[in-house]
Amino acid sequence: MNSVDALGSDRAGTSYAPQQQQLMDQTAFDQRLSDAQQAGADPSPRVVSAQPEERLDTSAQQANIRLVIVSNRLATFDRSQPKTGGLAAALEPVVERSGAVWMGSSGNLSDDSERPANLTQRGEGHVAGLDLPAAHYPGYCQGFANSTLWPALHSLPDRISGSEEHYESYSEINAFMARAAFDFRDRDAYWVHDYHLLPLGFCLRKLGIDRPIGFFLHTPWPAPDMMERVPNHHELMRSMLEYDLLGFQTNWDLNNFLACLYSHLGLASEDGLVISERGRTLCRKFPIGIDPKQFAENAAESLADQNDYISSLQKKLNGAKLAIGIDRLDYTKGIDNRIEAFNHVFAAEPRSISLLQIATLTRPEIEAYGEYKRNVDGLVSRVNGEHGTDEWTPIFYENNPLTQAQLAGLYRAAHVGVVTPLRDGMNLVAKEYVAAQDPNDPGVLVLSKFAGAAEDFNENEALLVDPTRPEEIAAALSKAAKMSLEERIQRWRAMMDKLEAYTIHNWSEDFIRELDNSRVTVPADQFRNLGFGWVNEPQMPLYRTRPALDAELKRTLDRLWFLPTTNGANHMGGAAP
Ligand code: G6P
Repeated sequence: MNSVDALGSDRAGTSYAPQQQQLMDQTAFDQRLSDAQQAGADPSPRVVSAQPEERLDTSAQQANIRLVIVSNRLATFDRSQPKTGGLAAALEPVVERSGAVWMGSSGNLSDDSERPANLTQRGEGHVAGLDLPAAHYPGYCQGFANSTLWPALHSLPDRISGSEEHYESYSEINAFMARAAFDFRDRDAYWVHDYHLLPLGFCLRKLGIDRPIGFFLHTPWPAPDMMERVPNHHELMRSMLEYDLLGFQTNWDLNNFLACLYSHLGLASEDGLVISERGRTLCRKFPIGIDPKQFAENAAESLADQNDYISSLQKKLNGAKLAIGIDRLDYTKGIDNRIEAFNHVFAAEPRSISLLQIATLTRPEIEAYGEYKRNVDGLVSRVNGEHGTDEWTPIFYENNPLTQAQLAGLYRAAHVGVVTPLRDGMNLVAKEYVAAQDPNDPGVLVLSKFAGAAEDFNENEALLVDPTRPEEIAAALSKAAKMSLEERIQRWRAMMDKLEAYTIHNWSEDFIRELDNSRVTVPADQFRNLGFGWVNEPQMPLYRTRPALDAELKRTLDRLWFLPTTNGANHMGGAAP
């Protein structure tokens, strides 16, 4: 508990005058999506064109900063190995292309001794694996992160559990990782990821790091009443204000976070900008994407490579359409309701469709996950027992993970992609399914209204469903299986245009650029001479060099110029004009 409890008392609400620049950033983002939508008005099938990327290429403006990325888990960087979760899939290309150092758990535990992380080269970047302390790991990972925060962030209050010791371990591991990340302090900025590490920025500041520190949340952020159920939520949210930039997947998450700051800490915001005692924290949406071009290429190749496997699967379908579900076996993914939905379809339209459900095992140390697995296993057996015949299997069920390439081929072979989480940060499976489709004969995406991806894909594109209502999912499945080629192409093209308009590369470039903009770059002595009393750069968090902020600075200086002091001189030492 000693790591995040010293931030001082709640601050009074402080509102802030609008900053045009933040507004413009959001507008520029929205403009991209609307450009993409307009491009999608042409319903004819097209192969993936380079044009939207050229139009929107932001690499020329890419901030050239040497980054340290910190997350709980690291990716394997091995294309022949499966990837677990969206975070790993998203950050791999960022590290390979940007030259960042990515620090995270090595997967091994240690006694409490602190050893420097092992560096391994990955593309332009490096990975630094850290052995985390065994004494605190369970309380941190299985405890506070995955039994308290995870269900709360996904708005599932009945699943929240935990203890004060878990929180202590969570704080200890954050402090431990911050000490390891401190070794990279010669780099330009830190980018911290996900709910395991909410207070890491605070711990870095305590160590004296004054560089820009940003944070991106891959999961949803819930409404204030849900957050209230998380022990120590005040302290956690206060610690998050030590970040210069806080990134969220959707407007829903961003607005919930700002509402939490207001309800729980009494802090107002304007255009996502929050002012605390430390300085400014900009909160913005950065909807994570994929590399659709690469995925589309992989899909075509992989379908060819896996032809034997896929054609044997297709034979087993016996004329039925194929639907695909790919998830970690996590209770947030709504796999149980999905199977109930298929049960309805099998009863109403026997042998019209089969489901290939790949449900990879995850977090096995947590009892709730074991229980969920038993529940899903039981449901699959029941439904297969009820509807299966010698010639036809209703649900093909796999627990082993597949590589990205294998997945891409299966996505392409499937007529329907089923993504029905109860709540999800973004859900990259939805985007990968779309990217993998054959432009001349694309499949249909059935998507939960409560996945972040549903903020990108509207009801004219995906078939949006309430994931808690199996009958509604069943109706969408049946509509998807019967949809005309023309409608499929129209819906798919619109989604693909959006994927091309904002890729994983745009996402990381946007975040890094905004992070780079978030701190002072004007030499400190210029300010000291003007009489503000600043002594060095980190003490000037309120002044930045971006045009809007320059204007703000100019206004302040003008005001000071005209304000007479008690001796009649202005604040610059001269006579008032
Ligand atoms: C989600 C989380 C990630 C996490 C992944 C896999 O995508 O947002 O932070 O790494 O799930 O979960 P695991 O517990 O296996 O790391």
